Amino acid sequence: MIKACIFDLDGVIVDTARYHFLAWKRLAAELGIPFTEADNERLKGVSRLRSMEILLELGHITMARDEQERLANKKNGWFVEYVERMTPAEIFPGVPALLQDLRRRGQLIGLASSSKNAPRVIELLGLAQAFDAIVDGTMIVHTKPDPEIFLLAARTLNVAPHQCVVFEDAEAGVESALAAGMACIGIGSKEQLPLADRVLPATGAFDPAMLATLDVRQPR
Ligand code: G6P
Ligand code: MG
Repeated sequence: MIKACIFDLDGVIVDTARYHFLAWKRLAAELGIPFTEADNERLKGVSRLRSMEILLELGHITMARDEQERLANKKNGWFVEYVERMTPAEIFPGVPALLQDLRRRGQLIGLASSSKNAPRVIELLGLAQAFDAIVDGTMIVHTKPDPEIFLLAARTLNVAPHQCVVFEDAEAGVESALAAGMACIGIGSKEQLPLADRVLPATGAFDPAMLATLDVRQPR
């Protein structure tokens, strides 16, 4: 039986994935690296510095670590500028109602985001009270696709991994959830997220009645 629903943030609760893309694209342009939305799929769900490495790989550029950190911080400055203008109106349609419905049904609700900005985004959206546990990029060593972040969320919620379902828009995030032994609902398209147990076009399209039909994985 599923006891906890664990949500990624960027691209699942709110379209901050778009802001990450715009900020990376701006940095890519400065570095003369062609960068498309398809390239951006590889950056979704992974840490800031891992994203920086992938961007440089795309441009066949090598660079000292401290310079990479400087540029990643520059990207973060732009991202934070976009984020600070956000309001609760930007939460994806149906998400607040879904979170309330899940809580009414007795589900525990977690947030597991690789983003170090996640607590600030949640605060700006007025969603802090909607989650029983929030795990962000400052609390983990290994970024998605490693299962660490979802296992930590399950531990914090005091549930076993096989009792959790994860909502994810990133390929790295789906891999992370499956490696943690959790069910996974992909948010996006089947082409982007072929490994997810189910794929929905939007988080708000999730019908909580579906919880009973999810195949619970074998405990690991
Ligand atoms: C999430 C996003 C990534 C982002 C990462 C780190 O996983 O999907 O696109 O790069 O968080 O975010 P941060 O806000 O810490 O740079
Ligand atoms: Mg995401």
